[in-house]
Amino acid sequence: FGRPWIFIRGVPSLKFLPPEGPLEVAFAGRSNVGKSSLINALVGHRGLARTSNTPGRTQELNYFVPEGYSGEGGDLPPMALVDMPGYGYAQAPKDQVDAWTKLVFDYLRGRATLKRVYVLIDSRHGIKKNDEEVLDLLDKAAVSYQIVLTKTDKIKEAGVPRLISETAEKIRKRPAAYPEIIATSSEKGKGLDELRHTIARTVGY
Ligand code: GTP
Ligand code: MG
Repeated sequence: FGRPWIFIRGVPSLKFLPPEGPLEVAFAGRSNVGKSSLINALVGHRGLARTSNTPGRTQELNYFVPEGYSGEGGDLPPMALVDMPGYGYAQAPKDQVDAWTKLVFDYLRGRATLKRVYVLIDSRHGIKKNDEEVLDLLDKAAVSYQIVLTKTDKIKEAGVPRLISETAEKIRKRPAAYPEIIATSSEKGKGLDELRHTIARTVGY
């Protein structure tokens, strides 16, 4: 994560996906959980992925890669981070919500180079019904995933260890879940090194 990262592509529907090449890790979660903020915090670039107070900010699959690879003649980046539209945002027009959900679900199910999905859960809310649906889909498709708690600065610090163990217990029987839970705050820079290390180990970057 030492070098600058750049945005390479926004994917509004599956036919615009880049050809499968570099290993990918994707960030999924309910609208407003902090996916785009976490990507920015990980790569140390505030404005890279667009963030917003209003849910429904990210509307495409956005691809980010380390700078300095032409993409031609096999000069491919070693990995890509994929920011995703959030799910569970009821205020947007139904057609749009359906289209985003389909894009997210189809991508998660069908991408051979998708190495792991980080499923973000808001520390204040815990795992909700639509999160469970995504976990079910990942288990069924045998796509490896890991739970990342976000916005831990919004809860009491003393409550974090218990939240971690309760969340770990909830996913214990899920076959594709990585057992360790990572607690983060993009705002306070918490848990970022741990997350960088697990991503690096996962893709061999
Ligand atoms: P969508 O793209 O709409 O699905 O949202 P998202 O999951 O990408 O969330 P985003 O990163 O845009 O953040 C949503 C809001 O939460 C913004 O107002 C962020 O500033 C805020 N936020 C994100 N991470 C943190 C955090 O660690 N702590 C606090 N306090 N706020 C955060
Ligand atoms: Mg976003």
